[in-house]
Amino acid sequence: MATPVRPFPFETPIAPESLIDRRTELARLSEAAAERVHLRLAGPRRFGKTSVLLAHAAALRETGWRTVHVDLYGVTSLSEVCLRIASSYARLDDGRLKAYLDALGARLGLSLTAAGPGLTLGPRQQEVPTPEAPQTAAAELLDLPLSLFQRDGIPTLVVFDEFQDLLSAGGSLDGLLRSHVQYHAEAAVYVYAGSQPSLMRRLFSDRERPLYAQAEPLDLGPLPFVEVLSELSDRFAALEEDPVGALVPLLTTAAGHPQRTMLLAHLLHRELSARKHRQMATDLSGLEGIALADAVVGRALAMTNEAHQAVWDGLSAGKKAVLSAIADGDSPTGTTTARRLGSSRATLQSALRELGKEGQHVTRDRTSSGDQGQWRYVDPLLALWVRGRGRAFGPAGG
Ligand SMILES: Nc1ncnc2c1ncn2[C@@H]1O[C@H](COP(=O)(O)OP(=O)(O)OP(=O)(O)O)[C@@H](O)[C@H]1O
Ligand SMILES: [Mg+2]
Repeated sequence: MATPVRPFPFETPIAPESLIDRRTELARLSEAAAERVHLRLAGPRRFGKTSVLLAHAAALRETGWRTVHVDLYGVTSLSEVCLRIASSYARLDDGRLKAYLDALGARLGLSLTAAGPGLTLGPRQQEVPTPEAPQTAAAELLDLPLSLFQRDGIPTLVVFDEFQDLLSAGGSLDGLLRSHVQYHAEAAVYVYAGSQPSLMRRLFSDRERPLYAQAEPLDLGPLPFVEVLSELSDRFAALEEDPVGALVPLLTTAAGHPQRTMLLAHLLHRELSARKHRQMATDLSGLEGIALADAVVGRALAMTNEAHQAVWDGLSAGKKAVLSAIADGDSPTGTTTARRLGSSRATLQSALRELGKEGQHVTRDRTSSGDQGQWRYVDPLLALWVRGRGRAFGPAGG
């Protein structure tokens, strides 16, 4: 078997063949497409939302679907939303569609198709778009699945990724979206993906919002330990690298967090590969098992230190107190914590409520009897960072 350049990709969305598990989610996505049921896919940052959706789209294309992936990350205006949608369609290998997009842009005085890097949005020179231009463009672009279906009978999968950012571009854009999407019946299926579970919930389960009950929920949780262990053991075996007892403790630390799992596996691989190829001492040489795993985790903390610091700096004092207690295994809102941190229990309770609602940093599983379980960190590295705060997490070493 050829060895991939990055056997443990940990940075960008990954190719379908690198995906571990997610079979249930992919089956649900495919069933929903067949039934034209719209889904909302929510999960914390870096849990593999985009990767799963790319795999889903690839599978649908195999069966003749058209698929577009619209990334709404950071959009701030309707014109920008239009550009994102238009450039997603422009990526399809469809000359007529591209010509149509160009014509639409020209008609409205908007630059809708990106010309390579450094794409700019906004009025083309000497053409002034009317104030209604973005509205008109949005209406046409949102109805593209319908026009295309009428042309060739091919249904379209439309993924709106980072969907929670839509409202930053306009508080009523979910209403605009719904007013089009609801008439697409056979022509399209929609998946709305987002990384702020609380915002996603609000968009779809608040009776006051236009998208209320318009998409069924699909949550992306941690990866199952057994699947990860078996897949990663195979990958190390294919590389002819022996993880010398460090893999299980590393995967235990990663606790199924997809990106953290891959980051730790990558760092282990880097160490093992250095040992194998250079046959010279690395600074971790001689280490095995848990000691090696600990050293690899140390490298991961050094690499991610700045990001953890940024998260921490953005938190209120109450949230910091709660997160410290959870990292230390203490009761986050108990009297001991309150006393130790000089906060009132009410402050801690409200901070924990908010953290829980946001679902970004901590979450709570249900026990087998259906009760709420212990609070735990979404990102195990953040937990370790918080616990070891104030300690220097040495140089990253690349
Ligand atoms: N099923 C999986 N198998 C293996 N690795 C995965 C899987 N899902 C996610 N990953 C890892 O997580 C990383 C992030 O994946 P991806 O970008 O798809 O997540 P995301 O939820 O879309 O993130 P973001 O919130 O930043 O948009 C990948 O680079 C990969 O290392
Ligand atoms: Mg993503």
